[in-house]
Amino acid sequence: MQGVILHGGQGTRLRPLTHTGPKQLIKIAGKPVSQWVLEQLRDSGIHDIIIILGDNNPNKVVEYYGDGSSFGVNITYVYQGKARGLADAVYKVKDLITDDKFLVYLGDNIVPYDRFPSFLSFKGSASILLAKVDNPNRFGVAVIKDGKVVKLVEKPKEKISDLALVGVYAFTKEIFDVIENLKPSWRGELEITDAIQGLIDRGREVDYRIIDGWWKDTGTPKDILEANSFLLDRYAERKIEGEVRESSVDGRVVIEEGALVENSTIRGPAFIGKGSKIVNSYIGPFTSIGDNCEVKNSEIEYSVILDNVKVDGVSMMDSLIGNNSSVVKGKRWVKLIIGENSRVEI
Ligand code: G1P
Repeated sequence: MQGVILHGGQGTRLRPLTHTGPKQLIKIAGKPVSQWVLEQLRDSGIHDIIIILGDNNPNKVVEYYGDGSSFGVNITYVYQGKARGLADAVYKVKDLITDDKFLVYLGDNIVPYDRFPSFLSFKGSASILLAKVDNPNRFGVAVIKDGKVVKLVEKPKEKISDLALVGVYAFTKEIFDVIENLKPSWRGELEITDAIQGLIDRGREVDYRIIDGWWKDTGTPKDILEANSFLLDRYAERKIEGEVRESSVDGRVVIEEGALVENSTIRGPAFIGKGSKIVNSYIGPFTSIGDNCEVKNSEIEYSVILDNVKVDGVSMMDSLIGNNSSVVKGKRWVKLIIGENSRVEI
């Protein structure tokens, strides 16, 4: 079975974090978002992975995943080049699909679903995964009548359905014929939602499953924090590989190799990455600290701190801190060097 992971997009709502790389590589609970996706596919038996790269530092994705062997999969890369929509991205794999059916997963979405073999055994020309949402105008939606998908609309202005497409699709190769004849939408993109509507217009059947519970499109900082707390809550298991000195480590806490926790309190679920030092500090629940960070004299809760970050003398919550940043208490004045579109609360 082949699984296609879409790894493009500009990630504008996550700037400045996405100035230096694609949003799917932002690490949540110890792994890039797209690695959660890749491992989910692998664990359900899909080992042939095609990653479609966008034009935001695609080399970083190739450097991270390589040929896939260290993640237990085979990866083929395809360059989408300039972003022209999800359907355009999917079309790029046309000559690489060898089976009758294939799976497509948006690499910035986290959807805790594990029945891919059954999802892929659909009748008709496609299958879609749906979930009930409160804000359907932010998504593509599907209208279901008498157990059948009768209509799909991308970002509907009027409320025609509250069942959103969660970014997981299964197709037969017929989707490529439809995409060849697709016109760009009002936002100038070839929409995958319109391509599936194209199948319905041809009289084809589109199967669907409705999932219950939490899922997330990690498009904004708030989404990243929510995904972090969900993933820690669901998957973190107590695993202490680093060194702990005169500290209290409570509950489901991961402390990776080479990390040091000294004179501190860590309350799970929490994650401390390789080589990080936590000294005289409190790390509260739902916090992920990346690799090689230094946290001193600080309190951090419900936050995501990426790699090589220094935090000293600060109490923070609900925060998302990018790679190689420092957050340090000044003597009296606040001194700031802040990138575009940032937000600081002091
Ligand atoms: C994309 C799809 C949309 C889908 C959503 C899921 O939207 O176009 O149909 O519901 O992903 O996250 P976008 O993230 O491009 O706004």
